[in-house]
Amino acid sequence: MILILLGPPGAGKGTQAKVLAQKLKVPHISTGDLLRQNVKENTSFGVEAKKYMEKGELVPDKLVNDMLKNRMGEPDTKDGFILDGYPRNIAQAEILDKMFGKADGVHVVYLQTSEPVVIQRLSGRRVCSNCGANFHIKNMPPKNDGTCDICGGKLYQRTDDQENTIKKRLDVYLKETSSLVDYYEKQDKLFRISADDEPEIVISMILDLVKSGRR
Ligand code: AP5
Repeated sequence: MILILLGPPGAGKGTQAKVLAQKLKVPHISTGDLLRQNVKENTSFGVEAKKYMEKGELVPDKLVNDMLKNRMGEPDTKDGFILDGYPRNIAQAEILDKMFGKADGVHVVYLQTSEPVVIQRLSGRRVCSNCGANFHIKNMPPKNDGTCDICGGKLYQRTDDQENTIKKRLDVYLKETSSLVDYYEKQDKLFRISADDEPEIVISMILDLVKSGRR
């Protein structure tokens, strides 16, 4: 099973993917997380990617594709995986199609939401520097300010969650990524979900759709 989570920044792809990975027992592969790990470790990938990420632009396809192919080659992906943040444009989607296009069990869940919701979510997001768990200062506050409920790690605000960069990321989403909705609809692989409900409701809708195959 390959589950692709599609949607604008802040739609809840990462939040949902973490829970879905546990429930469906397949790994969560986030290109954003992989890139941030490379930035943190100061690898050559990371040094190059950082220039684009901090401006809210897409990292060049070649770099992201190579990184993703490496990750998909690891043994834990043999029964499938959840993709969060990939594909981001038609060229990336065509690469996936070449690899898995004809396979059964490729589902694309489109998390629909609006710009005001995205801005509220991203500007209040806090992430654990240790385990990567997501929180929100109002929507999903940690029990203790600035501390991860799961591992006790320190919470931080992503550098691309500043207002100007959020707006740029939304522009990039509209220009580069939103056409994937049509792309996958034409392939009859797209499930639409409202991402504005409580996370537990969104999760159960995704699980229901994936398991029953309804659109
Ligand atoms: P990436 O990390 O993929 O960022 P993104 O797509 O902009 O998505 P986000 O992680 O910001 O949002 P999300 O939908 O996961 O929301 P979340 O669950 O955290 O990419 C970052 C950068 O890397 C890109 O700008 C680009 O430079 C580069 N990059 C990555 N992939 C690339 C690719 N394939 N090609 C080229 N470049 C690439 O939720 C957000 C907040 O809302 C959280 O605080 C959460 O607690 C809260 N929340 C979530 N769900 C709910 C809910 N239902 N109700 C209330 N609050 C909620």
